[in-house]
Amino acid sequence: MNETLRAATFLDKGGTGKTTTVAHLGVALDELGHDVLLIDLAGKQGDLGKHLGVFDEYQEQIANDEAWPNIATVFDDQWPTIAEKLGDKATADLILPTDEGVDLIPAHPGLDSLDAELGNIDDARERYTRLEAFLDEYVDPLGYDVVLIDLPGLTNNVSYNGLWAAHSVIAPVEMGPFEAEQADALRRDLDKIRESFDVAISLSLVLPNKVDTRTKLAEEYLQAFKEEYPESIAPDYVPYSQDIRNATDRGHTAFALAEPSTTADRAREAYLAAAEVLVERLQGAEQ
Ligand SMILES: Nc1ncnc2c1ncn2[C@@H]1O[C@H](COP(=O)(O)OP(=O)(O)O)[C@@H](O)[C@H]1O
Ligand SMILES: [Mg+2]
Repeated sequence: MNETLRAATFLDKGGTGKTTTVAHLGVALDELGHDVLLIDLAGKQGDLGKHLGVFDEYQEQIANDEAWPNIATVFDDQWPTIAEKLGDKATADLILPTDEGVDLIPAHPGLDSLDAELGNIDDARERYTRLEAFLDEYVDPLGYDVVLIDLPGLTNNVSYNGLWAAHSVIAPVEMGPFEAEQADALRRDLDKIRESFDVAISLSLVLPNKVDTRTKLAEEYLQAFKEEYPESIAPDYVPYSQDIRNATDRGHTAFALAEPSTTADRAREAYLAAAEVLVERLQGAEQ
């Protein structure tokens, strides 16, 4: 059996398209024939669940029985005990199927206090490796081909857990000076983590997003990103597409559109191409 591949979206900034990227790359990987699990650590607003049409259903579950156990529970000191008591269904209970083929462990209000709770763990290794321990022991046996993790747009104990667990980063970047600086900062952060903790985290995919090639500046930044990240750059950029926004508002991805616009169609092609190289790069990094 193949190893489960993992990657996490991360950039120390909100709004660049991290959640959109996880949803669309997830569905693209599914279209390419992979079994995909998405994990939403990005916060209780539950964005990823909205993208995949399961947000309301999960809110109802939370209102009814708190949806326990949930994604926050797996970081708890008590998780191994809880998992043992619940048996096989402990992890299965965390996972929602979606209409677009991918499975999802949705965000939960318990994530609110998670950063602070992790901060109380004295030992740094223990503090940053809870998610990795959970994935190794409870998720890998489920046999998914790829696990994608959506992280908050800031550096904290939760995003560190995502980086440690995935060892691999997907960074959607917009075309602008601030974003270029942010991507540089990300690369410096990853180097620092490598040095301080002796854990290698690679930048597997830099995905230019919301690109409007009608502007000359966007073209220039696109070129600059290509030169700056030759090993990580995606094969194609994702254009700005109003259809992506509309699809998200209706609880699905651009892959579910019956009559995609030109930009939505381009976006789908870009996500499919990105998904393909992502798998190759993750497999390469494993060896
Ligand atoms: N390629 C795109 N074209 C148009 N809108 C996009 C695109 N990618 C993302 N968006 C929109 O940008 C906003 C922020 O995206 P989101 O994925 O939530 O970012 P993040 O998770 O990094 O905060 C959302 O409203 C989303 O619909
Ligand atoms: Mg997000």
